Amino acid sequence: LTFIILVFIPSPLRALSIKRLDLDQSPLPTNFLFGTSSSSYQFEGAYLSDGKGLNNWDVFTHKKPGSIADGSNGDVAVDQYHRYLEDIDLMEAIKVNSYRFSISWARVLPRGRFGKVNAAGISYYNRLIDALLLKGIEPFVTLYHFDIPQELEDRYGGWLSPRSRDDFAYFAELCFKYFGDRVKNWATFNEPNYQVKTGYRTGLTPPGRCSNTFGNCTQGDSEKEPFVAAHNIILSHAAAVDIYRTKYQAKQAGRIGIVIGANWYEPASDSMADKLATERARSFNLNWFLDPIILGRYPAEMQSVLGNLLPRFSSNDMEKLKEGLDFIGINYYVSYYVKDCITSVCEPGPGITRTEGSYQECHEKDGVPIGQPTPLDWQYVYPQGMEKIVTYFKERYNNIPMIITENGYAELDNPNNTEGQFLNDFNRVNYMASHLDALLKAIRKGADVRGYFVWSLMDNFEWTQGYTIRYGLYHVDYATLKRTPKLSASWYKEFIAKHKTKT
Ligand code: NOJ
Repeated sequence: LTFIILVFIPSPLRALSIKRLDLDQSPLPTNFLFGTSSSSYQFEGAYLSDGKGLNNWDVFTHKKPGSIADGSNGDVAVDQYHRYLEDIDLMEAIKVNSYRFSISWARVLPRGRFGKVNAAGISYYNRLIDALLLKGIEPFVTLYHFDIPQELEDRYGGWLSPRSRDDFAYFAELCFKYFGDRVKNWATFNEPNYQVKTGYRTGLTPPGRCSNTFGNCTQGDSEKEPFVAAHNIILSHAAAVDIYRTKYQAKQAGRIGIVIGANWYEPASDSMADKLATERARSFNLNWFLDPIILGRYPAEMQSVLGNLLPRFSSNDMEKLKEGLDFIGINYYVSYYVKDCITSVCEPGPGITRTEGSYQECHEKDGVPIGQPTPLDWQYVYPQGMEKIVTYFKERYNNIPMIITENGYAELDNPNNTEGQFLNDFNRVNYMASHLDALLKAIRKGADVRGYFVWSLMDNFEWTQGYTIRYGLYHVDYATLKRTPKLSASWYKEFIAKHKTKT
């Protein structure tokens, strides 16, 4: 009810009312990470500066501008490569104690393991890490956030080749070696479950592969390739963790995990068919990568739907997989109802392939939407999903530590907005407050959650949406790259101050 009432409160009164949304006053666990998230391609810009090599997103956005909503690219993005000191001041202003960013593989190894290390790239991340630590902000590093050196794509198809496992292990070790004395939090991959579907099923992101009948691609196999790429990514994760555990972890005392794009799924009706479809949706999204890494095998639903299409792990692979992970990174934004498409007819849509076990994600159950609708057709606000996803992982994976590595609210860019309208992002505040409240509930009930990161510190390049949607706590004027705090920035600062436990 509070949620609904606040939506209608006139703006000058909102700042006061917002506090009421922060229902739970309990402090969070000691050393809880409060941060904001980012990624190299979406933030850095400087795409050919100082010896950086081309990566898949550079090539994709330049060659296929039609595939990005506004024809844009990340050549400049928010220019964090040159403005990182200013950006660290922005972090300090809201008192976060951690910053999640990714390392651009092609910036440190322009040609993957086929060329030299780029000293200027290493120097950039050294300077960034040191400057963060100087302000008491812990670096939280994602090794791979969708950008692979183009050379590895061109030579043998990147993640489709088993050789990618050695490529990734080489890159990961380089990062442990150069940065691991100061970086204590490593995520191997960001949302690989999302990446392989858009890269190899719908073809909407690089390398833009899909079956002809499925999307608008010239090459690919939508039914098969996502599982091949995923298999190589799972084993790349295992290879990197193996190196970390055997050569670095004891000395460097850090932790290593993986980040999953974790929508929550609920049955669209009480029918057994929809319940089973929901199990399949969870397996094909949430457990696809985590089951092999934590339990040593693919989910049963995937095995039975895919049969021989699902690659197998050798005994050697199984040995490496035993290294597991130290935390699960959860990116939670939205939830879906799931409808069975085996016993009933579903509208054709990108979610439905034979290999996904025939289910459809929908926003409504009996005409009632799963959450509060927003101007974006896919974004329904459902904070309960935060508690549910955390509880689900807690139960399935024996309460392995979890970190909310992303959570955030998207707003459509509207060129007619006044500055006030941009900055008074009440809906984002409402979103964060309700999701943090749901997270606190899960923690109170025993979930081992060690951190929360907002997506994102500032507006940035949103992949196929270009600059048309904004996620930031800070507004970015793309003509001048000026950053201005929104209401959500001050709200988050207050939240952190209230919940931080002194160590
Ligand atoms: C997930 C991705 O990790 C990030 O790159 C993206 O910008 C956000 N979600 C918002 O879509």
